[in-house]
Amino acid sequence: MLHPFDDISPADARALVRNFASPLYLICERTLRTRFAELKNALQRMTCNGTVAYSYKTNPLHGLINLLHQDGAWAEVVSGHEYQLAKSLGVPAQQIVFNGPAKSDEDLANAVADGCILNADNKAELKRLAALGATLKRPVPVGIRLVVERSDEAWGRFGFDWHSGEAWRCIEWIYTQPGLRLAGLHCHLGTNIRDLERFRHMGITMAEVVVQLRSKFGTELDWLDIGGGLAGISPRWDESRSEVYAPMCAEQYLQAVLPPLLEVAPNTRIILEPGRTLVDACGGLLMSVIGERGDHNWIVDGGINVSPTVRTYRHPIRLAAGGNLNGRQVTTRLLGSSCMNHDCITDQAQLPPLHKDDLLLMHGLGAYNLSRTVPFIHLRPGCVLWRGAGQMSEWLRLPEQFADSQYLERIPSPLGTL
Ligand SMILES: Cc1ncc(COP(=O)(O)O)c(C=O)c1O
Repeated sequence: MLHPFDDISPADARALVRNFASPLYLICERTLRTRFAELKNALQRMTCNGTVAYSYKTNPLHGLINLLHQDGAWAEVVSGHEYQLAKSLGVPAQQIVFNGPAKSDEDLANAVADGCILNADNKAELKRLAALGATLKRPVPVGIRLVVERSDEAWGRFGFDWHSGEAWRCIEWIYTQPGLRLAGLHCHLGTNIRDLERFRHMGITMAEVVVQLRSKFGTELDWLDIGGGLAGISPRWDESRSEVYAPMCAEQYLQAVLPPLLEVAPNTRIILEPGRTLVDACGGLLMSVIGERGDHNWIVDGGINVSPTVRTYRHPIRLAAGGNLNGRQVTTRLLGSSCMNHDCITDQAQLPPLHKDDLLLMHGLGAYNLSRTVPFIHLRPGCVLWRGAGQMSEWLRLPEQFADSQYLERIPSPLGTL
């Protein structure tokens, strides 16, 4: 398997730090686009009415999102802010899927007026939409999110539970509402899922719902949204495995979930909402070794505030430039640059003996890191698009500067002087 960033030589790594900064996030364009094409092509081989809507929250870099839209992705958003971002990037409303449990009245009004694909999360939201439809004197097309799993792993706090009857009661209620039209079903099981049986079961259950809707109400749906949730490449720390996984096979995943749906609704639009499986492999963090604590303990200029997923996942890490690239590997502890005692990136990296100013490259960080990075003690690092050896790299996001950290701050005027 060709790993992202394998083509970064020690000289390239040094040049990236010299020309841009350290620490520095990297996005590998080839890995991103290849993965998107795998998902899109696998979907198109199975249905002529399929769409890959990128889950913005996973990594909201505008340049990354833009690349995906250029390659044909739709947008999956979960807030008014993300909705506004999609529109500002030129995505037509009809290609925006609006999910999430916290849509404001304004969000709903905009989404309905624009005609985007809307999936409701809860009854209160459906009631607001019904009222909106009544005011507009036309039924608002809406999908509902279903919970189809009963196990402890189920993400039960979003959507309507199918097995308890909650979802069916909600569906019956929708048909009493002149301001609503049931237009879609949505399921999102969770995240980092490797067990394809869970997706298979989801497909079977959604197909059952489609059949019941048709027999009871004669409904033909506009969309079936199967969510995201596919696992990434890094093993979790609570797994015994330490080697990186190959990206999960898009074909096998779709073969697990889609056949029952395509059988009962061959013409309905199928929507996929990948996040992690699309972007996690393409993201890396280049870090400098800045200090030594002896006994294979080193301080680096990254840390848990810029790579929050390091506490859950064993992300692959290698020496990218340094004095001893081919030295015998030893178990190494990498400490982050904050003042938190638990700021340890890993205590199990297998690396040649390190030296100050060596460069390390950790990858598998493209999902849920940049989006959840916080300025803590240090400002947030910048991010560069890595186009491959010999190609020009460019900023995707500049590193934060002192002025950026100040412009939202206000110091209240004194109430009075003594
Ligand atoms: C509704 C919805 N769709 C898609 C995703 C993307 O999930 P993942 O990154 O696991 O593919 C999420 C993430 O939580 C989500 O909540």
